[in-house]
Amino acid sequence: MKTLMKPLALMMTLTTLAAADETFGAQPAAGKKALVVYFSHSGNTRVVAEQIARAAGADILEIVPEKSYPTAYNAVVDQAKKEIEAGYRPAIATPIPDLASYDTVFVGSPCWWYTIAPPVATFLEGCDLRGKTVAPFMTHEGSRMGHSVDDIRKLCPASTVTEGLPVRGGSVAGAAPEVEKWLTKIGLK
Ligand SMILES: Cc1cc2nc3c(=O)[nH]c(=O)nc-3n(C[C@H](O)[C@H](O)[C@H](O)COP(=O)(O)O)c2cc1C
Repeated sequence: MKTLMKPLALMMTLTTLAAADETFGAQPAAGKKALVVYFSHSGNTRVVAEQIARAAGADILEIVPEKSYPTAYNAVVDQAKKEIEAGYRPAIATPIPDLASYDTVFVGSPCWWYTIAPPVATFLEGCDLRGKTVAPFMTHEGSRMGHSVDDIRKLCPASTVTEGLPVRGGSVAGAAPEVEKWLTKIGLK
């Protein structure tokens, strides 16, 4: 039952926001397809992921860990520290999609201890991003991208990893103009 449910769940989560909302009118460049994958614990990174998907005309996929992180701040901070120090890769409930038709994958995470959250590392290790452009974005409370761009480069050695987009957690609601500027700067718009 579980294996039958997974592709269905993927089809339901992998949607094109731009197609769903004509007011944004964004279209990917001819023949190019982009995917936004992201993890968000408390919702900030999700907001930016949706802005990028709309602006770039990209599909979007949330990375959901099999076991949720605690909601209590100190508990999640402690757990994240231990997992990052140990290089732990938590299981994710999100099936790895077929990425063959995408040439750009936007990868979003909250900044956790100056790097990507462990479920994002699980995803990156589990998929084949060779030859693709990987565009990282992050929400944070002061560390900006931390050392996540270098960490992503290590996890995706055969990809072109662009400059990242850091957005302060408290500023995500108004970040659409920053998203547009970044997409133009990295040549994806
Ligand atoms: C476990 C944990 C570790 C964090 N570590 C950092 C950090 O190193 N630097 C930073 O600027 N913010 C840090 N933060 C703040 C988050 O990056 C910030 O609130 C982010 O916007 C949360 O994104 P989300 O709502 O998508 O989960 C941390 C938050 C948590 C829960």
